[in-house]
Amino acid sequence: MTPPLLEVEGVSLAFGGVRALREVSLNLREGEITALVGDNGAGKSSLVRCIAGIYHPDEGSFRLDGEPVRFETAQQSRAAGIETVHQNLALVEDLTVWQNLFLNRELVRGIGPLAWLNRSEMKSRAADMVARLSVNVPAVTARVRRLSGGQRQAVAILRAAGFSSRLVIMDEPTAALGVRETSRVEDLIMLLREQGRSVLLVSHNLDQVTRLSDQVWVMRGGRCVAGRRTAETTGEELVALITGAKLA
Ligand SMILES: Nc1ncnc2c1ncn2[C@@H]1O[C@H](COP(=O)(O)OP(=O)(O)OP(=O)(O)O)[C@@H](O)[C@H]1O
Ligand SMILES: [Mg+2]
Repeated sequence: MTPPLLEVEGVSLAFGGVRALREVSLNLREGEITALVGDNGAGKSSLVRCIAGIYHPDEGSFRLDGEPVRFETAQQSRAAGIETVHQNLALVEDLTVWQNLFLNRELVRGIGPLAWLNRSEMKSRAADMVARLSVNVPAVTARVRRLSGGQRQAVAILRAAGFSSRLVIMDEPTAALGVRETSRVEDLIMLLREQGRSVLLVSHNLDQVTRLSDQVWVMRGGRCVAGRRTAETTGEELVALITGAKLA
């Protein structure tokens, strides 16, 4: 049997006296949408940031394809094929769509002091990415400050998904979006799965989790308290697990 794509084993993280993560263990499989749910402050974003190499766990470990990995920096996590769309997504308002897509991974032509940015190649690849994931943005040359919330989210997801990532982590990708924008972003998430990519979806929207995910992990008070195949649980059970209430 092939090992899970990513395994989190006994990860703990404290901020001073706040124990954000307590021995969290979970895993996710290749080609699946795995949901991570839990109340505000449960530790979801902290775990995402550990996987993304931004926070460093006090204890615990990660495995990728069964092999131990350690991410000291966000670049290392990205180099391993993990891309993250953070809760407060970081796009640069004054740059265009294509400039945001290639931020920190600019294509250069030539080497050393003679290198120059290959702008036309980046623009044309950006247009390809937008077309391939059928994202609704005005133009890759539009500045991000002119885009709606949903369009910005789409650009952030494109940035994570458009490159050769195997795992795309999305922390509350639709929290700030309207009904139509939400359904476009959901289409994008399902398209990633169709392409064989793996998605870790952090969401408070249990209806969305139930419709989209293959597997769901529940966090409460810094612990991972349960994991279910989505088909084998209900919204009611998930609410009980999230709040710690006993099922009637
Ligand atoms: N940089 C930080 N410094 C101090 N405490 C932090 C930091 N980041 C998170 N925490 C604390 O860790 C705990 C978990 O926070 P986290 O952001 O992981 O929760 P969450 O599950 O993502 O919540 P939400 O659903 O509201 O986004 C909280 O008590 C939070 O205050
Ligand atoms: Mg969060």
